[in-house]
Amino acid sequence: MSALSNRTGVECYASHSIQFTLNGQQQALDVLPWTTLLDLLRERLDLIGSKKGCDHGQCGACTVLVNGKRVNACLTLAVMCDGATLTTVEGLASGDALHPLQAAFIKHDAFQCGYCTPGQLCSAVGLLAEGQIGSADDIRERMSGNLCRCGAYGNIVAAIEEVIQAPGEATP
Ligand code: FES
Ligand code: FES
Repeated sequence: MSALSNRTGVECYASHSIQFTLNGQQQALDVLPWTTLLDLLRERLDLIGSKKGCDHGQCGACTVLVNGKRVNACLTLAVMCDGATLTTVEGLASGDALHPLQAAFIKHDAFQCGYCTPGQLCSAVGLLAEGQIGSADDIRERMSGNLCRCGAYGNIVAAIEEVIQAPGEATP
């Protein structure tokens, strides 16, 4: 961490050195203490899959995985990710092989404009990892932090249901 003094001589912290693993790649960066993870991803690392819908934790378009758990990147400071393992929508596929949820979203037409889709996908990956999903209503409830202005909810739930019932079998 480095520090600067402002005009009144009060010390203010200019940047923090952080390291994390992002989509399998090690990253080491200096970040300002107020930089959000979403801005870091989009504006410095050119990973623009994660979307800035509201920037207030209300839409879920910015959802990414931090240590396997879904979080709103707009509400997460980059400095909080020091030492973490991060996955964004860009890291879900393995080479040319789509993640089963990506394949299922295509198969079930689970998007229209696609703006919410990266967040929906990362949230669904986190949901699957949480387990204990009993019904479509469970999926709806636990995906309720991800809004879709196109109203593709029925198809999104169908895609997630298919992957729950037959992991790895969805093909577009
Ligand atoms: S942009 Fe983060 S929740 Fe809307
Ligand atoms: S597909 Fe358009 S906002 Fe969800």
